[in-house]
Amino acid sequence: MEPQIRTQIFPISIKTSDHQILENAATLIQEGRLVAFPTETVYGLGADAFNPEAVQSIFIAKDRPSTDPLIVHIESIEALRTVAINIPEMAWKLANRFWPGPLTLILEKHPKIPNAVTSGGNTVAVRVPNHQIALKFISLSGCPIAAPSANRFSKPSPTQAHHVWNDLHGRISMILDSGPTDIGLESTVLDLTQSPPCILRPGGISLEKLKFILPNVNTRTSFLTESKQKQISPGQLFKHYSPNAALLLFNGDDSRNVLAAMVAHMEQILNKQQSVGAMLVEEHLAFFHNLQQKGALIENLGSIEHIDIIAKNLFGCIRNLDSKNVDIILMHMLHDNELGLAINDRLVRASNDILWIDS
Ligand code: TXA
Ligand code: MG
Repeated sequence: MEPQIRTQIFPISIKTSDHQILENAATLIQEGRLVAFPTETVYGLGADAFNPEAVQSIFIAKDRPSTDPLIVHIESIEALRTVAINIPEMAWKLANRFWPGPLTLILEKHPKIPNAVTSGGNTVAVRVPNHQIALKFISLSGCPIAAPSANRFSKPSPTQAHHVWNDLHGRISMILDSGPTDIGLESTVLDLTQSPPCILRPGGISLEKLKFILPNVNTRTSFLTESKQKQISPGQLFKHYSPNAALLLFNGDDSRNVLAAMVAHMEQILNKQQSVGAMLVEEHLAFFHNLQQKGALIENLGSIEHIDIIAKNLFGCIRNLDSKNVDIILMHMLHDNELGLAINDRLVRASNDILWIDS
């Protein structure tokens, strides 16, 4: 990171796709600079994946430990051969089904990929993003683009360009702003170097969808087991995506009991003169009207019938509450099916505690 570099931010539209702006972004990449760009999942912070110094500057800009490897973004399935070797048949099959899209494959790395990208490991994470701006940007850059999510380390991933601006202005050269991202959660990370293949991070492609093609797919642990472990020993898990506020998760078999416990907890917090917020699905808003009158801040995630909308709103809602400096945020955990698994995974990582409310 150069001390206080000037960050340019440009609105860019898929329709016109503003060629000159993209040309300038690609030139910056060729010069070893950092450009934040939209994908269908979250905004990425891109550098030339073949340029070790440029890749290293990503870690500095984000304050990210260099032990956490990056995803390499390519423009087409065929380009996979430029970044990975000994590619198994299953990789082509998954790529043909899910690319461009929110599935990241872990494969044996090509010798041309520098250690800075893979944190010294011999595997590489790769995906083709499903976003016209991202694809044009990669193509014009003429190289694969190494990119983590464009947030400061341990902040929620950015789903809008102003999230990137808030975290990284003065540290990166350019932000391409094409509005809110479509999915709002990061890609699913699938390790094909293990047998059977293993999901390291649930994300935009659900476990259910993957199982159609990979019936024997493993998960790193049961993600739910992880949340149960956390009840027993809070604080032992690696804290990630943390808001400034403390995040308390509520779960239980009977939603009415869970909601009643949340309301009681929020009243206690307000009585202690602390500020409190809740992220709620639309169907639960009515339970919290009185608390809102008393000053509790409520973020509407959208209807429980539309888990994709909830996914899209999640990180923005956390950032909204954080920007209002609430002390404590509460949320009812969701069911673990479809995108719910990835949402719960992010919530558990961000949380300080999980309260199980017995029926
Ligand atoms: O949707 C996404 O995946 C976004 C957009 C920008 O593409 N990117 C993203 O990158 O979320 P990041 O760096 O925030 O998360 C990448 C994840 C990390 O959990 C990292 O540990 C894992 O992928 N990863 C990267 N390379 C790996 C490797 N060689 N082996 C295992 N895990 C790897
Ligand atoms: Mg990230």
